[in-house]
Amino acid sequence: MTSAARSEVPDEAGARAAQLREQLARHNYAYYVQDAPSVPDAEYDRLFRELQGLEEQFPALRTPDSPTQRVGGAPASAFAPVEHRTPMLSLNNAFTEEELLAFDKRVRDGLKVDSVEYSAELKFDGLAMSLTYENGVLVQAATRGDGATGEDVTANVKTIRVIPLRLHTEKPPALLEVRGEVLLFRKDFEAIVKRQREAGEKEMVNPRNGAAGSLRQLDPRITATRPLRFFSYGIGVLEGVEFPATHGELLDWYIKLGLPVCEERALTHGAEGLLAFYKRVGELRPSLPYDIDGVVYKVNRIDQQQTLGFVSRAPRFALAHKFPAQEEITEVLDINVQVGRTGAITPVARLKPVFVGGVTVTNATLHNEDEVRRKDVWRGDRVIVRRAGDVIPEVVMVSEPGPRGDPETSPNYFRMPTRCPICNSEVVRAEGEAIARCTGGLFCPAQRKQALLHFAQRRALDIEGLGDKLVEQLVDEEIVHTPADLFKLGVAKLAALERMADKSAQNVVAAIEKAKHTTLARFIYGLGIRQVGESTAKDLAKQFGKLDALMDADEGRLAQVPDVGPVVAAAIVQFFRQPHNREVVEQLRAAGVTWKEGEPAAAVNSAISGKTFVLTGTLPSLSREDAKEMIEARGGKVAGSVSKKTDYVVAGAEAGSKLAKAQELGVAIVDEDGLKQLLEQA
Ligand code: IVH
Repeated sequence: MTSAARSEVPDEAGARAAQLREQLARHNYAYYVQDAPSVPDAEYDRLFRELQGLEEQFPALRTPDSPTQRVGGAPASAFAPVEHRTPMLSLNNAFTEEELLAFDKRVRDGLKVDSVEYSAELKFDGLAMSLTYENGVLVQAATRGDGATGEDVTANVKTIRVIPLRLHTEKPPALLEVRGEVLLFRKDFEAIVKRQREAGEKEMVNPRNGAAGSLRQLDPRITATRPLRFFSYGIGVLEGVEFPATHGELLDWYIKLGLPVCEERALTHGAEGLLAFYKRVGELRPSLPYDIDGVVYKVNRIDQQQTLGFVSRAPRFALAHKFPAQEEITEVLDINVQVGRTGAITPVARLKPVFVGGVTVTNATLHNEDEVRRKDVWRGDRVIVRRAGDVIPEVVMVSEPGPRGDPETSPNYFRMPTRCPICNSEVVRAEGEAIARCTGGLFCPAQRKQALLHFAQRRALDIEGLGDKLVEQLVDEEIVHTPADLFKLGVAKLAALERMADKSAQNVVAAIEKAKHTTLARFIYGLGIRQVGESTAKDLAKQFGKLDALMDADEGRLAQVPDVGPVVAAAIVQFFRQPHNREVVEQLRAAGVTWKEGEPAAAVNSAISGKTFVLTGTLPSLSREDAKEMIEARGGKVAGSVSKKTDYVVAGAEAGSKLAKAQELGVAIVDEDGLKQLLEQA
């Protein structure tokens, strides 16, 4: 800024702009980093526009750390090269426990100590980034590149909301180069892909590629539409303040400066501590909102790090301990379909066995016909297979098409069957639905097998020993048709089946006997009603107490159960409307399946549930919408006009004809306090 330019700006305007910058940065941090918005969006927008207005009037106020500069100028034609002040290195990898133990030993030997303190953190699967702050202001962001020279992506990185444009400190270091990882959270990635699909654009492949692609946009306005994130994990240079003594202290300091640091980190001692961290994070991995590909261990004391130094391109003081890859490439040997418990026909790719996500995978789901078309998967293609956590393995995309030819004639082209491959019933795909279904119901052996397995599973009736192979035989030999038939099985019949010795037959019969004593929740879940999972089954058992009450409930009554919406309610009513299903229930009861019946939950007799309310006038603190929502949440109804059927009229200020009508009909009238009391009783 020249002194001439500065002199044109009135003092008050300058002071106000500085104040706005500071306020906006604070709200931004609360919103994006702490996930705890400090002001309503409208207030943020108002402050933002005020600052924009001031900067328009006095362009000299437009500082590089102004929040208005996050989505900056015009598209670039290329990214300028940036020489890193110190090289951006990579990490040595370990895949096994032995490799980890060897690392710890090398470190201990190198330091001549018995035990070492490590900082353990996550290995983010994103893009390494260098952020340079001069006197507290972000002046440059650069990619890793080849480690020595990266690319200047400052304009793009400024759009990343979690990255502060100015450090939160009165005494910033003269120079600080923060290193960390830019990533895209999975849900944000999915939302972008959905948008891209709808717009017919090229789709991102995975969050990592999505983050990379977003950063390499020449137009920062595109990057600004991608909610990228950042985690700080290291340092390039520091001048002007004393260096922290440990890596842990460095990260704590970063937090004070307003830099995002991942909470999942720990200080541990020795190899056991590291292994425990590895194991814990491995279990956490599927539930993290972003992808990681391992954990990173770093010697915590900086002086010890310096003693150990570097070998070629990696530090001796750190190690990446990788998890098994979640994506691998393999070949599609065949594509056929599987019939599920509810008749859903799912295309499945039969694969050349591949080790992915820690297990050998031979099948991967293709979800439905539309997915097969969209991904354009043919027999003989090479595909990327993904298995994350306990999630069913899926085909992500084709990596290399195989021999194809004309879809009309090629044997490699997959077509959905029009008849169920198991029972030959018609396959129907309802209008607007992605899933095609076999219409055979429990006539279809495939559906029957799945229904039996569901009934017997641990979380339902819990019949130990009734697995795939046994159910397969019981259905194929027409020994068992419904779950009730299970209770008629004797040892002799079972022992005659393949791979069943006397002893195991006895065990299964004993397990079936034991399963007769169950709970209502398990029983409801075991019936395999569509839309009714384990937790809904528990809610239903609690609400109704007795099976008959549930079987006779209408949709209105079901809707009073917490978390039961119209779709679930309709599925339950439809299930019990089928005589066949009622018959199975009766047979099960007759076979001796029992549970303790309870009393229906209080809500049924409550002050609100099943009652009709009419709201009139202005309530002192509750809006109409709020009051309606609260009544409905407790199973009450809100009607528009007063009749003899009305249970309560809730009257506020300036209540008119509805109040008069209520008085005339002798309907109970309450004010807001009265309503609140009823709500409390419910
Ligand atoms: S430290 C001197 N910490 O892994 C070592 N790297 O293979 C500097 N990465 O390019 C890296 N999470 O992009 C470090 N917590 C973490 C990390 C991490 C992910 C990436 C980083 C680097 C690569 C090294």
